[in-house]
Amino acid sequence: MKRILLSAFALSTVMTFAQQYGGMWIPTEVNEKEMKELGMKISAKDIFDPTKASIKDAVVQFDGGCTAEIISGKGLLLTNHHCGYDNIQSHSTVENDLLTNGFWAKDMNGELPNPGVTVDFITDIKEVTKDILAGTDNLSGADLSKKINDNIDAYKKAQKIESYQTISVRPMYYGNKYYAFVIETYKDIRLVGAPPSSIGKYGSDTDNWVWPRHTGDFSMFRIYADKNNKPAEYSKDNIPYTPKHFLPISIKDKKEDDFTFVFGFPGRTTEYLPAIAVEKIMLETDPAMIAVRDIALKTLDEKMRVDPATKIKYASKYARVANYWKKWIGEVEGLKKSNAVEKKKQYEQMLISKNPGIKTTIDQLTQKYNEQAPYNLHRAYYSEIVRNSDTFTLAGLFNNYIQSYEAGKMDAKNIDALKARLADIYKDYDAELDAKVTAKILALYANKTEAKFLPKDFDQLKNETRNLGMMDNVSKISMITGRTKDDNNVAKNMDKLFADQKTLVENLKKDPLIQMFGAFKTSYLETTDKQVTALQTDIDALQKKFMAQQMETDKDRKFFPDANSTLRVTYGKVRGSNPRDAVTYGYQTHLAGVMEKYIPGDYEFDLPKKLINLYNTKDYGIYKDKTGDVPVNFTATNHTTGGNSGSPALDANGNLIGLNFDRQWEGTMSDINYDPRLCRNIMVDTKYILFVIDKYADAKWLINEMKIVK
Ligand code: ARG
Ligand code: ASP
Repeated sequence: MKRILLSAFALSTVMTFAQQYGGMWIPTEVNEKEMKELGMKISAKDIFDPTKASIKDAVVQFDGGCTAEIISGKGLLLTNHHCGYDNIQSHSTVENDLLTNGFWAKDMNGELPNPGVTVDFITDIKEVTKDILAGTDNLSGADLSKKINDNIDAYKKAQKIESYQTISVRPMYYGNKYYAFVIETYKDIRLVGAPPSSIGKYGSDTDNWVWPRHTGDFSMFRIYADKNNKPAEYSKDNIPYTPKHFLPISIKDKKEDDFTFVFGFPGRTTEYLPAIAVEKIMLETDPAMIAVRDIALKTLDEKMRVDPATKIKYASKYARVANYWKKWIGEVEGLKKSNAVEKKKQYEQMLISKNPGIKTTIDQLTQKYNEQAPYNLHRAYYSEIVRNSDTFTLAGLFNNYIQSYEAGKMDAKNIDALKARLADIYKDYDAELDAKVTAKILALYANKTEAKFLPKDFDQLKNETRNLGMMDNVSKISMITGRTKDDNNVAKNMDKLFADQKTLVENLKKDPLIQMFGAFKTSYLETTDKQVTALQTDIDALQKKFMAQQMETDKDRKFFPDANSTLRVTYGKVRGSNPRDAVTYGYQTHLAGVMEKYIPGDYEFDLPKKLINLYNTKDYGIYKDKTGDVPVNFTATNHTTGGNSGSPALDANGNLIGLNFDRQWEGTMSDINYDPRLCRNIMVDTKYILFVIDKYADAKWLINEMKIVK
């Protein structure tokens, strides 16, 4: 009896230690009371205040995707290694591969510019629902969208902003509310430092999405500004940006249950879907996308294993494809294990019992989702086929090009953009290998897809062996794969061929690959795309209603809008987890654990000599914790998603304690069904970051810029 009471007590404290549903809060609407109850010592205004310096002034969206934060008075930026990856790669040469060797500027003059890379500050946030939904009461469908867009334009025009600012108006709660964000974009962003991949990507795909983790996933950049500290294009005369605020870095030991919050730009979540939608993701679309990538990855791996050149060429592509492949597998597993669909159904029954009107909405949603399901499944296959076949991606680009050219839309700027995109694909494209990938995924596609969705002769494509021969032959004679020797080879004669567009288009139209892809695409557009879109318009309207009904009915629940790449705050506690029966995860890993995983010469678990020496000599300086070892990664209950990579994890006083970069396997379904028992975000410990900068890289000049809290 005592035991039961005790565990019931333990359970209830578990339930109350953090907000029951996770949450990604709009920074102007955080639940200050709850944050303080959980241990926060600063106020909500310290986090976000449009009128004065606050933590928001140290947090930026990095190049439209990840998050980064300012950690010195000279605009020094910290983000993940995997967020800076492409830029680190772009400065690499065969003689000096910065991904392999790492890079550390000796001083500011040694920092490397990255044309095109931007960072965005959010300087103000306002709820503008009234303005945006004015006059929309009796509208629906296209009329409603038009009125909303007009209102957004009118709102933007009426605001007084500086020349370097823009306004973005975004829907929240499926269009029940609207928020305006004032954005300042800086454009001169230079690479300052990055550890070698053997630290920054340690564990690579094997450890990706997995805890316990041992990755030093960080890199550093610096924001440059004009002489008035305002945004400017790259110029050697620009000066390091002086921020309104930068994050002090704490190297205090962490304890389980310490309060923490994460401030950043989560990309996309769908927490408020009806059970039927979750069921379709779990049983249909996720498995379809996984199946295509299974085949693509396996085919690439066969060649990457035996050919070092292919290994290098495909490293980034492989990692990208594997990342979400692995995430979806974890997501499906997690949704099943956590009984997500059943729980959603029970939740819906609860809502209906309080508000019977909701039944109609759910029934209508169920009907629409069922109607959409076959089209959605086809869409999942189709888009994954195109995404995982460079050959089809190329054919698709040329297909669009032909249409744009014929519509008279190909001006010099568009041609340059297309050429750049093509060059980017050709750079890491192995046409022979890709023909193989394409042949195999086409066979899967033809076998899994209802005949009514496919062009007439597609039946033949069910045979993989036949496809392999066919694709290889076609790719050898196509002008767009780079395999022919003649002058019509676009990959090799790009400038020359684009100089005479009329002839180019005539020839492209005769290309067998472009014709094949064209048939494939036309059939997709006619049989599927239109239907998906039309049904989605209905679903969106119903989902908006369902969202409003959930909010009206479930008064005990604190609602937050799904992630949509806007700035958010999430909070929780430093914590390990108990993901399975008899399995307990600690919250912190250490350098000794990095060494435990070390496999000399392995592409995922090799380590630099110098790091091993530091470990052997225990040269840890001030970066060890009470165990005498250097802490490397830690987990907490912050509710994060893709886009939160690079986000600062802060302590009760607003000091930086970690750098967010991943989630743990058992909780990857958090985008659809956040479960506080299983979901953990994974961060690099600030002690490990500083240890690598100071002891491994000897970059003391960077440490000296920072404000370290001991
Ligand atoms: N899973 C993390 C995220 O979604 C990290 C990905 C980068 N690391 C990798 N091994 N691919 O972005
Ligand atoms: N790794 C992710 C990112 O790049 C973060 C996550 O999905 O947890 O944003």
